[in-house]
Amino acid sequence: MSELLDRVARAREGALGRVGEATSTDELRLVETEVLGKRADLIELRKSVGALGPDERRRVGQALNEARAEVEGALAARRSDLAAEDRRRRLEAERLDLSEVVPSRRLGHLHLVSQAWEQLEDVFVGMGFTVSEGPEVETEWFNFEALNFAEGHPARDSFDTLWVDWGEPGQTLLRTHTSPVQIRAMLATEPPLYTICPGRVFRQDTPDATHMPVFHQIEGLVVDRGITFGDLAGTLEAFTKAYFGGEFTSRLRPSYFPFTEPSAEFDVLRPDGSWLELGGCGMVHPNVLRSGGVDPEEWSGFAFGFGLDRFALMRHRVDDLREFFAGDLRFLTQF
Ligand code: DAH
Repeated sequence: MSELLDRVARAREGALGRVGEATSTDELRLVETEVLGKRADLIELRKSVGALGPDERRRVGQALNEARAEVEGALAARRSDLAAEDRRRRLEAERLDLSEVVPSRRLGHLHLVSQAWEQLEDVFVGMGFTVSEGPEVETEWFNFEALNFAEGHPARDSFDTLWVDWGEPGQTLLRTHTSPVQIRAMLATEPPLYTICPGRVFRQDTPDATHMPVFHQIEGLVVDRGITFGDLAGTLEAFTKAYFGGEFTSRLRPSYFPFTEPSAEFDVLRPDGSWLELGGCGMVHPNVLRSGGVDPEEWSGFAFGFGLDRFALMRHRVDDLREFFAGDLRFLTQF
């Protein structure tokens, strides 16, 4: 009888050992048949139990049951360990890190205009503005009509529009400015609205040091209750200090745009005493608020639009805008 108990103990040891040795879930499956299948020692030993007296039968039976339960527990634990290990190995093998950069080799950087774009976004987002988007192919209505350029308005001509041959003639164009996003933002969201829209714009221009047919602007729009010209001036001054630094200040000069009344030009005074023209701004014209579905009796707002490429030119002291588009490595690798 004690000999039988010894065999149970040995079978149990052997089974637990085999379970511990398995190194993959596939192997463990084979081990499982080996230690608990029909031919397994622990199972074969059951046959001997029938021939024992009742007392011994109980003790050996119990030892067998315990051994079996223990082996089953070990199998389950090993199975889950190996499954975790398999998964870890698979993930490691399939790993494809697209952000991986070999630190010793500089592989490139964002375009200077993209850098300016992101920095400007950061400053305005820091001031609580959201970022809006609109399409580059626009309708005449969003680009002009809704912005209070009546049909035949002379200011339309100053935009050198690139028309798109699609739909009715004179209805589809490449947006000449980011201002149509003002209308889209108002139509999409109820005021109060504090949003900027950086984007690409297009005009029929001959490339020279300061003009390109494709360039970038950043539009800003605020619509809220009781917004005044003072809010506009204060916001632009806060922006100037946040973006350029404390030693810069801004000024506004009277100007004209159909979509703002009053309108102004926005300049920044550099520490060397020179002025830099950055763009236009003003109080949103009531007709423009109406185009955006906003009641001018209840809400007022201001807007601004800057040429974004200028920020990049200035920050890096580049004197020819064409450099940004030429892809000349002698230029690009300087940054
Ligand atoms: N859209 C104008 C342009 O392209 C710039 C501009 C001026 C935008 C005044 C504004 C604004 O939002 O208020 O010349």
